[in-house]
Amino acid sequence: MKRIVIFASGNGTNAQRIVEYFKDRTDARVVQLLSNNPRAKVLERARGLDISALSFNRQAFYKTDDVLNLLKTTAPDVIVLAGFLWLFPEKIIHAFPNKVINIHPALLPDFGGKGMYGMNVHEAVSAFAKAHSEQKHYTGITIHKVTPEYDKGEYLFQAKVEVTQNDTPETIAEKVHQLEYAHFPEVIASFLKKNN
Ligand code: GAR
Repeated sequence: MKRIVIFASGNGTNAQRIVEYFKDRTDARVVQLLSNNPRAKVLERARGLDISALSFNRQAFYKTDDVLNLLKTTAPDVIVLAGFLWLFPEKIIHAFPNKVINIHPALLPDFGGKGMYGMNVHEAVSAFAKAHSEQKHYTGITIHKVTPEYDKGEYLFQAKVEVTQNDTPETIAEKVHQLEYAHFPEVIASFLKKNN
C-alpha cells in the first residue's frame, strides 16, 4: 500500500477529493495531512474523513527539522501539495527526491512564480483576457514536480479550459477547480504506479 501525505493551507477541497478517491483503493491511501495554518478548514475536513491532521509553524518547517523528521517517520511514497502556499524547503525536497508534486491553477509557465496563487492567478488571467479581447484565451491546471524554485519542476500533466469575455475571476476559479477535481487524484495514482 503506497502512502500519500498532503500539504494544504486553506479550504482543502482538493485534499478532500484526493482522500475520498483513495479511500476504497487497495494500492494507495492518504495517511496524513499537514497544514501551515492551524485554523485552516482543511484540518477539519481531514479529521472528518479520519485522516491524521496536524499543523506546524515556520520554525518547525524552516528552522528546525521537526516537520522533516515527522515525514521521515511517516515515510510517504508521494508528498502532494494541494493548495499549499509556503515555499517548500529544499531539505525536504532533497530528503524525498522526485516525490513531491504540486498543482498550480494555471497553464505554466504562464501565470506562475512568486505571489501567483489562488485568486491572484485567476484575477491575472481574467485581466489579461480582457486586455487582449481579440484573441481566444485558455487557462487550466499544471501538475508538476516540486523543485526549490516556485513552479519550475518537470510538468506531469496539464489540462486547459477556455476563458471567455464573460468570465470573472470567480467563474475562472470554478472552471479550474472542476479540472482539478477531475484530474488530480488520477494523476497522483498514475504517478505512484510509474515512480515507485
Ligand atoms: C487550488 O486551486 C490550487 O490549485 C491552488 O490553490 C487552490 C486551493 O483550493 N494552489 C495554488 O495556488 C498553489 N500555487 P482548495 O484548498 O479548495 O483545494
